[in-house]
Amino acid sequence: MSYRIGYFVGSLSSTSINRVLSRALISLAPPSLEFHEIGIRDLPLYSPDHDEDFPPEGRALKAAIESADGILFVTPEYNRSIPGALKNAIDWGSRPWGTNSFARKPTGIVGASPSPIGTAVMQSSMRSVLSFLNAPQLNAPEVYLTFKPEHYAEDGTVTDESTAEFLRHYMSEYAAFVERVLSVTAPGHI
Ligand code: FNR
Repeated sequence: MSYRIGYFVGSLSSTSINRVLSRALISLAPPSLEFHEIGIRDLPLYSPDHDEDFPPEGRALKAAIESADGILFVTPEYNRSIPGALKNAIDWGSRPWGTNSFARKPTGIVGASPSPIGTAVMQSSMRSVLSFLNAPQLNAPEVYLTFKPEHYAEDGTVTDESTAEFLRHYMSEYAAFVERVLSVTAPGHI
């Protein structure tokens, strides 16, 4: 059985370390997971004024979330919280009221920072948001990654074996979590 994973990269930076991390996670994931990026760059700022008639970007975002079996967030911490572009995307996905696209989607949160705190504070904010959105979350293991550029090759391959093993273990636990949640929320799927 394979699972469709929609992933968000919470950075718009052309030199994003979290994009490097997303490539590393994909390369280390079990073959049962198939990854599709859900882009956030072209979304307008969300306003309830759009609720009557969502623009194509908002509709495409909701369709991408809804067609995924699981969602993975790979994101920096900005000012101890969720980067605005990513929070904007989450707000789009959660609306119009009564059509929250994240409901019952198994989610994982990982993040990298150059600092030792490794996005821990942002992940804590994100857990509140996802709880409110009724999205089950993988609670453990946690990935608070202090990004060391020397541990990655140009193409995102992880060259440091202990980092690779840590990320491989996370993806294996994430795959098992997605399967576990779907066995309850969509038993016909398994
Ligand atoms: C940061 N950075 C940062 N780092 C951190 O560990 N905690 C924080 O609260 C913040 N806050 C913050 C705010 C803003 C506006 C910026 C631009 C940066 C530093 C951040 O971790 C670093 O720039 C990373 O490289 C961002 O990840 P990407 O964009 O490279 O994936």
